[in-house]
Amino acid sequence: MGEAAEHRIGRRSFLNLLLGITAVGWLGSILFPIVRYFKIPPRKEDEPASIVAAKLKDLKTNEGVIFKFGSSPGLLVLGPDGQLRAFSAVCTHLDCTVKYRPDMQKIHCACHGGIYDLTGRNISGPPPRPLTQFRVVQKGDDVIVFRV
Ligand code: FES
Repeated sequence: MGEAAEHRIGRRSFLNLLLGITAVGWLGSILFPIVRYFKIPPRKEDEPASIVAAKLKDLKTNEGVIFKFGSSPGLLVLGPDGQLRAFSAVCTHLDCTVKYRPDMQKIHCACHGGIYDLTGRNISGPPPRPLTQFRVVQKGDDVIVFRV
């Protein structure tokens, strides 16, 4: 076999590999949304009613921490006034995860600039509703968050 033929086979193998990768990517982009659509969401009964969201000694004033509350994120804030507050960290606009911004002393959604105050009320940007608020109980060093 000549050098030109070997070169052609190499090019053909490369193109076949590229075609295979493209086909797998295409198939994945079709199947992923279908599988995700049919994935059964967790039932409300399966979600925990409460959780130890943080240890008080690990929190600083004017700071927020994200914690996992069942299948979704929660946000625990130790406000500048020293009060503990907890919310669902799921933005009411398009479900991005919100964060506490110490510089603004507000809860901020980086996706589209939504802003919530420290009561969880939507005060600026596209979010249509307030954040879901949770009840916070301090027991010793544990900061326990309850679904209301
Ligand atoms: S998802 Fe939060 S502002 Fe759009």
